[in-house]
Amino acid sequence: MTVQDFILESYNSDLEKGSVKWSSPSNIALIKYWGKKENQIPANPSISFTLSNCKTITEMSFSKKEGKEFSFDVYFEGEKNEAFRPKIQTFFERIESYVPFIRDYHFKIETSNTFPHSSGIASSASGMSALALCLMSIERSLSGAEESESYFNRKASFLARLGSGSACRSIEGELVVWGKNESVSKSSDLFGVKFEDTVHPNFHEYQDAILLVDKGEKQVSSTVGHKLMLGHPFSENRFKQAHDNLSEMKEVLKNGDLKRFVEIVESEALTLHAMMMTSMPYFILMKPNTLEIINRIWSYRQQNNSNICFTLDAGANVHVLFPKAEQEKVYDFINSELVAFCQNGHYICDIVGKGAIKL
Ligand code: DP6
Repeated sequence: MTVQDFILESYNSDLEKGSVKWSSPSNIALIKYWGKKENQIPANPSISFTLSNCKTITEMSFSKKEGKEFSFDVYFEGEKNEAFRPKIQTFFERIESYVPFIRDYHFKIETSNTFPHSSGIASSASGMSALALCLMSIERSLSGAEESESYFNRKASFLARLGSGSACRSIEGELVVWGKNESVSKSSDLFGVKFEDTVHPNFHEYQDAILLVDKGEKQVSSTVGHKLMLGHPFSENRFKQAHDNLSEMKEVLKNGDLKRFVEIVESEALTLHAMMMTSMPYFILMKPNTLEIINRIWSYRQQNNSNICFTLDAGANVHVLFPKAEQEKVYDFINSELVAFCQNGHYICDIVGKGAIKL
């Protein structure tokens, strides 16, 4: 598919008003997206587990208006929110040629997250995917055409990508690949695709305990971090490594090799942070407690012959990943040893999920 396939050419503009609502999850990357080209095209492919409990719920009410200016109001958790406006304005500017009706309506966007506000958990993936899905539902009523579910999901992912890259992996579950890679047949740089191969039962209902190490604002945003991969001394090797890791991960997901899964996932997380530490300017997003947690996870794994592992996003929080079979023991370990390193003892229990839901 090409960009051309996502241009909506005609629609019925008689619809005066309406309202749509979606719940869309966050996701956690196993192979990381870090570095991008023009128009939100990733520099390397990535794969993520879609989550289940961390999600954004967005209702979009629309009403016909005069004029062609973008017009919208945003409410976050019941209160009018100005802070989100610039991101949504940029999002609308990037997507208008694919959903031209956004200039014909005023939108009231009411959104809330299931995870605590300012927990340091990025809400851009769940937030932008929820918005994209709402716009797709509106497009569906305006176009009158019954597009296939696969077209709907692809275009939703395509739009979400233009809001925030990782958001394109939040439409479907349980594993989503984004970025062209020769070992994943339908993979594309334009949208995320559901990982269709058989997945070994070891990975069913995989667990993710998100340890909230630092709830503060990050010193360096992901957008800035991605840009620093341009001209980064290690970028070419890193992008190649991500391709190789994805090809191998595909096999691991099939054959259930948990030991190799742990190695690839942890290496990806540390490589992501190594890229941050070796860019110019360089920066460190991990905190002392991030390292404490990593070291304790390593000791626990060795002493208990466990398959627990960690991954990190662009921040200090630690995602602790483990198979369902280890759930009870790992939560005992988290409660006895790791909560001490979480800000106010906070962590979130999540599990792999099936994707966004229309409400
Ligand atoms: C470290 O998707 O937040 O979480 O496209 O600029 O919005 P933008 O970046 P974003 O990048 C997140 C990168 C990451 C790794 C990943 O999720 O793959």
